[in-house]
Amino acid sequence: MKLKRGNPWRQLPGGSLIAPSLLACNFAHAGQDIAQVVAGGADLFHVDIMDGHFVPNLSMGPGFVKSIRKATDMALDVHLMVTDPAYFAERFAEAGADSITFHAEAAADPHTLIARLREGGLGVGVTLRPGTTVESIRPVLAEVDLVLVMTVEPGYGGQEFQENMLERIQALRGMLSRSQRLEVDGGINPATAARCRRAGADVYVAGENLFGARDIPAAVRALRQVVGGPDA
Ligand code: DX5
Ligand code: ZN
Repeated sequence: MKLKRGNPWRQLPGGSLIAPSLLACNFAHAGQDIAQVVAGGADLFHVDIMDGHFVPNLSMGPGFVKSIRKATDMALDVHLMVTDPAYFAERFAEAGADSITFHAEAAADPHTLIARLREGGLGVGVTLRPGTTVESIRPVLAEVDLVLVMTVEPGYGGQEFQENMLERIQALRGMLSRSQRLEVDGGINPATAARCRRAGADVYVAGENLFGARDIPAAVRALRQVVGGPDA
């Protein structure tokens, strides 16, 4: 889905969107892996940024996003798992991010961060660890385009889906407007995606399930089979 720069959540169609997590791609040939998920019908990309402090892992930096930006016009949905989201939001916006999702646990002043992202014309998401209460994001719910429900503890791909997050998805769906997206992230495959969809999710991040597949386009299609299409 080709986008002009700007808030992707105002340009992407409603309905179900599939967002492959580039954390799971083979960094040695990221361009080829990207082409594979695009061939399978992916709608946008999820880029997991980890600083080794907020989560015990390091992933990729602004240089990676800069390269990916040259390789695709599709939306880059950057998930900041960092202790200083205000600083890194600016760096990744400069590198070519279209939307920034920050963790409520790390944002000292979320309203200012959101205002800065809006000034830059970016999409805005908020997220929380499975162990953090939904109350922590209530103050910003009205200001964001998207809530990302982590269905695993952030830090690594390939983890088991946490079933107890299904009721959080349901609860949050009831707290969001129809135009706000509810994204799920962690252990997503056709079986878990079906349950998330029934609970109210509409954007599906998947890493291992897609990039770990022998036939990547077929894995995207199998997920699409379950979640349905964007209502373009
Ligand atoms: C985990 C990341 C997720 C993860 C998804 O901290 O936020 O996006 O990469 O990978 P899978 O789908 O393999 O759980
Ligand atoms: Zn993520």
